[in-house]
Amino acid sequence: MRLDVVTIFPEYLEPLNVSLVGKARARGQLDVRVHDLREWTHDKHNTVDDTPYGGGPGMVMKPEPWGEALDAIIESGTSGTEDARPTIVVPTPSGEPFTQEIAVELAEKPWLVFTPARYEGIDRRVIEEYGDHYDVRELSIGDYVLAGGEAPVLVMVEAVARLLPGVLGNAESHRDDSFAPGAMADLLEGPVYTKPPEWRGRGIPDVLLSGHHGKIARWRRDEAFRRTTANRPDLIERTDPAAFDKKDREMLSILGWGPGEDGRFGRVAPDVEE
Ligand code: ADE
Repeated sequence: MRLDVVTIFPEYLEPLNVSLVGKARARGQLDVRVHDLREWTHDKHNTVDDTPYGGGPGMVMKPEPWGEALDAIIESGTSGTEDARPTIVVPTPSGEPFTQEIAVELAEKPWLVFTPARYEGIDRRVIEEYGDHYDVRELSIGDYVLAGGEAPVLVMVEAVARLLPGVLGNAESHRDDSFAPGAMADLLEGPVYTKPPEWRGRGIPDVLLSGHHGKIARWRRDEAFRRTTANRPDLIERTDPAAFDKKDREMLSILGWGPGEDGRFGRVAPDVEE
């Protein structure tokens, strides 16, 4: 997969040299190219921003440097016979929420170009212009406002890179991820333990030592219900109740949850202490 990032703070993307993403680059699984937006400015001060039309606080990123940068990057990948078209990812708090499902979608693309903005964002015409010719995704990593899109790029790149074939040591390790599509979809992952068997007087649940795979799987699912009802009740409320088997319903009932008039599950008893 090829990843391009255009930014006025290339050094902010240094973490892409480290850990999982750094190793994937070293192995040739990821071709990451970080570009300084100011390379595509032509004035003495390398200006990338200007005051907003209509007034108001803050500055807006000028369209010309972004246009030149994107044209140059896109051109570098479409030379010859190959018709590689990038997906352009625009991090913005006004975007669609970035979810595991979107990470899975992006992981299937051959080429992503990220455009992290500073200030009040990029002149809208840039998004419209490239949106006419390319797949442009405006994505938010959460309901809070950061000073720029660079940290969201790090977040999204890591979420996508770990899904690429061969990047994580053990392909199975995605399977039980919270939010992973599949059996545990819509449940948060429960607690995990490793050696030693006792630490500061705290043991580990007996079932994990039982060697009984069926019981262990059931325990993990029950713990997932415990966590999800406590931390993300919205995930249970939106789940099709057909996904809950008899044992799930028993656990939900213990936690004070039951079906409402529409069959969907909700809290029916006061909160149970974890
Ligand atoms: N830029 C600033 N805040 C952001 C957020 N929450 N998500 C994506 N990009 C951003």
